[in-house]
Amino acid sequence: MSETALSERVEALLHSRYGVTLRDRQRRAVARAIARRGAATCAKDAEAYVQLLSDVPGEGEQLLRECLVGVTSLFRDRDVWTGLGDAVVPALLRRFPGTLRALCVGVATGEEAWTLALVLQRLVVDGAQRDYAITATDVDPHRLRVARRGVYRIGAEDTVADPLRPTVSDSGVRTRGDRLEFGPPLSEHVTFEQHDLLGPTLVPASAVLASFPLVLLRNVLIYLDPPGRDHALARLARVLPEGGALVLGEAEHVPAALQSQLIPWRGLPPRSAIFMRVPASHR
Ligand SMILES: C[S@@+](CC[C@H](N)C(=O)[O-])C[C@H]1O[C@@H](n2cnc3c(N)ncnc32)[C@H](O)[C@@H]1O
Repeated sequence: MSETALSERVEALLHSRYGVTLRDRQRRAVARAIARRGAATCAKDAEAYVQLLSDVPGEGEQLLRECLVGVTSLFRDRDVWTGLGDAVVPALLRRFPGTLRALCVGVATGEEAWTLALVLQRLVVDGAQRDYAITATDVDPHRLRVARRGVYRIGAEDTVADPLRPTVSDSGVRTRGDRLEFGPPLSEHVTFEQHDLLGPTLVPASAVLASFPLVLLRNVLIYLDPPGRDHALARLARVLPEGGALVLGEAEHVPAALQSQLIPWRGLPPRSAIFMRVPASHR
């Protein structure tokens, strides 16, 4: 069976079982993931692995995880969080009344959503006396289970002197040995939902009709091929109101077709990769 035919069969199987769309993902990455799982399960060849995938419960989830890279960490890429805290969130609070709603797409094991909750709790609830709500999504059901638990080991890199580091005085954060636990009241503002950014619905069912002045889509686009990237960004531009902020990963860019709609957030270093949706009257 050719590499393409094999990928297509596996993608169809994962789609029917988990509702996950892999078709826009770089084919080579999928083929490599299949090869790794084939070796790990001692399948004698690709055909045997596809058979095993159908027969063995749990193998589909293992393969899915292998295809979807889930590297993440608390306060990943510090410039982003400084830019959000110092400039972007205060501007959004001035522009958008009521509850500040954020959509966090591809959160993997959830560190990004909890980091955002911490920033918004400090600025929005403690500072501006307002409310916020975060909808955090990923296609991978296993990683979302970890995300919902909200318990992480504190690494040696998380120094006590770091001003962004969560402290026990932050309500909703507890330390237990070398673990950091996120809970109420932070957890009352965060909803984790399985959702495929490239699937049939634009946003998770609970967020239909919502608009999100803050959208985080970090380190997801790099795993998509160019048509997948354009498709994903064009979809998200529909839930991002004018004046709202889109945050990408440091190595990610807005494609040429959307550059008149999404411009770099003024005053921030380009590596923070924060963009503003330009009002139609300014284009
Ligand atoms: C490298 S992680 C990024 C985690 C986090 N955003 C960060 O930057 O630290 C990429 C995540 O995107 C998720 N992902 C990939 N394709 C997706 C899609 N179509 N819809 C939703 N999530 C997706 C993967 O499951 C994975 O957990």
